[in-house]
Amino acid sequence: MTTVRFDPVGRRRGAITPPADKSGSHRAALFAAMSPEPVRIHNYLDAADTNSTLQAIRCIGSIVEVRPDDILVRGTGLRGAQESDGPIDVGNAGTLMRLLPGWLAGQKEGSWTLDGDASIRRRPVDRIAGPLAMMGARIEAREGRFAPFTVYGSSLSALDYELPVASAQVKSCLLIAGLVADGEVAVTEPAPSRDHTERLLAGAGVAIQRSAVAGGPAIRVAIHNVDEIELQDIHVPGDLSSAAFLIAAGVLVPGSRIVVESVGVNWTRTGFLRIIERMGAIVVGDLEEESHGVRTEEPVSDLDVCHGPLFGTVVEPDEVGPAIDELPLVALLGCFAEGETVVCGAEELRVKESDRIATVVEGLSGLGAEIEATRDGFAVTGTGGLRGGTIDAHGDHRLAMLGAVAGLASREGVEVVGMEAAAVSYPRFAEDLAALAQT
Ligand code: S3P
Repeated sequence: MTTVRFDPVGRRRGAITPPADKSGSHRAALFAAMSPEPVRIHNYLDAADTNSTLQAIRCIGSIVEVRPDDILVRGTGLRGAQESDGPIDVGNAGTLMRLLPGWLAGQKEGSWTLDGDASIRRRPVDRIAGPLAMMGARIEAREGRFAPFTVYGSSLSALDYELPVASAQVKSCLLIAGLVADGEVAVTEPAPSRDHTERLLAGAGVAIQRSAVAGGPAIRVAIHNVDEIELQDIHVPGDLSSAAFLIAAGVLVPGSRIVVESVGVNWTRTGFLRIIERMGAIVVGDLEEESHGVRTEEPVSDLDVCHGPLFGTVVEPDEVGPAIDELPLVALLGCFAEGETVVCGAEELRVKESDRIATVVEGLSGLGAEIEATRDGFAVTGTGGLRGGTIDAHGDHRLAMLGAVAGLASREGVEVVGMEAAAVSYPRFAEDLAALAQT
């Protein structure tokens, strides 16, 4: 395990391009694998999670060529996934573990076992296995809900399913199953979650309906099977969830001004920006996208942020989906804000790469924060700063990066135990943070 120290060495300045979007990269590889024609993917994320996806699609018959400027995937077609020689190792990648079974479950024949690291083995798969079983799928999981689990190819039938909790992974799994099921597959989510799957499918010629359910934040998405998807080349935008750590450093460290370039600003991902703007941060960028309809494009913008005073805020349950991976950073910003910052309706954080309610509260408390866990989030009392100390990443990439940013903004510096976890989504994170040196 690597311990790295991050000291308060002064203001951060400069422009930086964050790594490619993790969610977009997983989906690009999976849909390219389903495609009957070769697909070129530009700006594919080179990180542990998305390399697991390339390896997984190779295991089931795709040929993947990693070239200097792009990745070329020669897929198997929608109904051509092949049996793998051994278990498919998803590593630390929850998205891969939840999306791939939707495709495999609808193959005519074959069986596939999926397994991953210690964190993956703690994350539930019954949330996909349950609704897939309603469609006629057969999945056998350890204790009925954990990896390793085996998916048996079956014929799938129609489904009209209400997600108990908004989850892009579960929604995407079911929509992918819908590509090969008999009859309509409709998924209603109680509040919006990221819609990259819908955009990619709409762009691949799949008729997909996406409509707001009257009188609330719920969204219904419906799909019918197709013979094949017609995917064009894909360009993956920069990852707002990775950029968020740089943005937080810019907002928290006095005297900073940071421009993050070419970041994906799909409205289902920009909840963090809306929350921090409410806290007083100034974010300049092209953030116009409205929350309606099905789109095929992923909008991209540069984002310009600078240091400034912050005020506490309340994050409501229907804001959680579009900010889900950035909520630990909201807690960090809350430590520096005036007043209380409360996050509600975010119990999903308990089943992320770590139990992020427990690990964020334990981690930030250890650095001197006044923070308490609640059933469905946390409450932070801002004290205007953070002392510093040691934080354990618990193998969670986002916690490692949170600790690093906390260190830059703290009074005494922070040692992050397990900094190598950042390689899951942002291998160059420490170098990029250092490159935003004082000027
Ligand atoms: C993801 C969806 C989110 C997010 C995860 C990636 C995806 O999870 O936390 O890091 O790529 O679909 P949910 O399934 O809770 O939306």
